[in-house]
Amino acid sequence: MIEELKTKLSSLEENYTLKIQSAATLKDLQDLQVAALGRKGELTELLKSLKDLSLEDKKTFGPLSNTLKNKLTALFEEKQIALEAAAVNEELAKTNIDLTLPAYTFDKGRRHPLVIAQKRMVDILSKLGFIWAEGPLIEDEAHNFDALNIPKNHPARDVQDTFFVKNAVKTGFVLRTHTSGVQVRAMQKQKPPIRIIAPGRVFRSDSLDATHSPVFNQIEGLYVDKNVSLADLKRDLTVFMKGLFGNKAEVRFRPSFFPFTEPSVEVDVKCVFCEGKDPSCPVCKGTGWKEMLGAGVVHPNVLKNCGINPEEYSGYAFGMGVERLAMFSLNIKDIRTFYENDVRVLEQF
Ligand code: DAH
Repeated sequence: MIEELKTKLSSLEENYTLKIQSAATLKDLQDLQVAALGRKGELTELLKSLKDLSLEDKKTFGPLSNTLKNKLTALFEEKQIALEAAAVNEELAKTNIDLTLPAYTFDKGRRHPLVIAQKRMVDILSKLGFIWAEGPLIEDEAHNFDALNIPKNHPARDVQDTFFVKNAVKTGFVLRTHTSGVQVRAMQKQKPPIRIIAPGRVFRSDSLDATHSPVFNQIEGLYVDKNVSLADLKRDLTVFMKGLFGNKAEVRFRPSFFPFTEPSVEVDVKCVFCEGKDPSCPVCKGTGWKEMLGAGVVHPNVLKNCGINPEEYSGYAFGMGVERLAMFSLNIKDIRTFYENDVRVLEQF
């Protein structure tokens, strides 16, 4: 009996090896697989006789038939892969696709230099604990001027400087001339401690030239708490400037005037191009310094106007132009470079 089974096994092997090799389609191969290894397949049927064998014979026939099963399974897989590849090649041969052609390239976008500059500034200020706040681009005069202690006769309130918005429903609105209105809104809404920055677009009635634009970007900051002083302002803005221009950057504070701060300062940075050594430096015009921003201790009237008791709280504020700082650090000479969006220029940053 065992001899007979062995012969059957080897003829099965021979038979199926040949048939698998000559299978022409995936369907043929599948049918073959069912015929050999399926539930009623030839090899499966043969294995059923195992139970009638002596222990001795089981020990020889068992491993033999298992080896054949594994071998046939491997042959089926191999042939399947070969047939599938042949089918793909046949499809490709029917088309005109040239797979050796290089792939299409596509242009990757990148951040605009102004966005890069704004992000660098915001990142440093965030580490100093400032939280991004926003307000409307069309602002009422109360937030843009009155609350900020800007008197009715101030030149900034002139139509020559400011875009006034007039329509039948509302008057007394302007395209915000600075983002200071966001400071006002924050103070009206929230009790100190307040620590916000207000990045965003602002508008002034200037003609577009190398250093002016009727639309530009600002970042303003406000910190209000108990006992905030000019010393806090100097410390934080020095850290900010060094964060932007490197640890060696030198910072200078000059007295200035803004209606909303008292005392007010202007903050300069030592020219990073000539380090103050070149009297003919085109960037700092030989002065050695570059004005970066305005700042000061929040005027008590401003706190009062926003519902904060100046006897209890004090604060500092600052405001700067993103374009101005970006022009200085990237050595861009014309503000229009940012808005013309010439890709050849933009891709340098
Ligand atoms: N608002 C000023 C401007 O647009 C900048 C500024 C100066 C903002 C001092 C401030 C500040 O908050 O304290 O020119």
